[in-house]
Amino acid sequence: MIVLGIETSCDETAAAVVSGDNIILSNVVWSQVATHHPYGGVVPELASRKHIEKIIPVVEEALLRAEVNSSGLDGVAVTCGPGLVGALLVGVSFAKAFAYATGLPLTGVDHLEGHVTAVYLEPDPPPFPFVALLASGGHTNLYYVLGPTRLERMGQTRDDAAGEAFDKVAKILGLGYPGGMVIDKLARDGDPERIRFPRALLDKTGFDFSFSGIKTAVARYVQRQQDGASVSLQDIAAGFQEAVVDVLVQKAISAVEAKRCEHLVVVGGVASNSRLRARIRQEALRPGVSVHIPRHELCTDNAAMIAAMGHYHLSAGKSSSLDLDVYSKASMPYMMI
Ligand code: KG4
Ligand code: ZN
Repeated sequence: MIVLGIETSCDETAAAVVSGDNIILSNVVWSQVATHHPYGGVVPELASRKHIEKIIPVVEEALLRAEVNSSGLDGVAVTCGPGLVGALLVGVSFAKAFAYATGLPLTGVDHLEGHVTAVYLEPDPPPFPFVALLASGGHTNLYYVLGPTRLERMGQTRDDAAGEAFDKVAKILGLGYPGGMVIDKLARDGDPERIRFPRALLDKTGFDFSFSGIKTAVARYVQRQQDGASVSLQDIAAGFQEAVVDVLVQKAISAVEAKRCEHLVVVGGVASNSRLRARIRQEALRPGVSVHIPRHELCTDNAAMIAAMGHYHLSAGKSSSLDLDVYSKASMPYMMI
């Protein structure tokens, strides 16, 4: 089975072709960063307009690189939520039209389950069950994963997502948008111990997160610095990153221990963070946990993960009708809470 995946939930227009054995035949991502950069964040209306401009060339490129045309495909998978409604509508409308014109089955994919699916596209995916930490710009969730479409949510953020904290702190520090990668790079030359920012909910036994307080703490710190001796931007970035990474690593490892599970998966844009990747691999070693983190381009938004999820849906006979709708907030009906 060969599936075309389409992803337009935020600021990336993406299309990919994936075969049934989870082999990526093509994976095209057109980033809108340059469009949104002057505004310091994603402007939803501009995102929709850019998706409209780019969706056809991006899909054409994905088919070209995979060396298939529509008659070589067996289905179309598209992200239908959560995300920006206007942006999602572009991908979903295109996918419906494509499926209708070609007679291919269509399936709507949840963006969050898509992120977890990214790990199956790597050569050594973990066996079920495993614990998955999903840390992106919109979500920070811990799941107990029993099967490709059987995700039990163990915890979530009560306010900002981890990636959102990176983006907001980058804005406070005047580093521009998107913030995650810039902070990651800057922090490499900083001292992570020099400034200690708060680690919210680490003293609590549950698996929820909170990242809005740390953003305020950084803002207050910067404000104070302006009146006195200044600490380098590198040290602030490193101190902030260390606090976020501490929380993510410790919560993820305690979730694995609580489930007496041996495998931990880390996905989502923040899973690209070099400090998180290094520390989680190192610290999971002690309790004997194997860590699986997809390569960078499968952690950030892409359509290969959507196509891969599409395989599971279509081979289980789950297709969507042409009245498939989009949704802005997380709402997977089969996700046990
Ligand atoms: O998964 P993703 O591409 O899109 C969403 O579904 O949100 O995640 C984007 C988020 C942004 O907040 C971005 O700042 C963050 O992931 N991010 C990073 C890094 N690369 C991307 N955060 C920390 N370190 C990075 N290297
Ligand atoms: Zn995402």
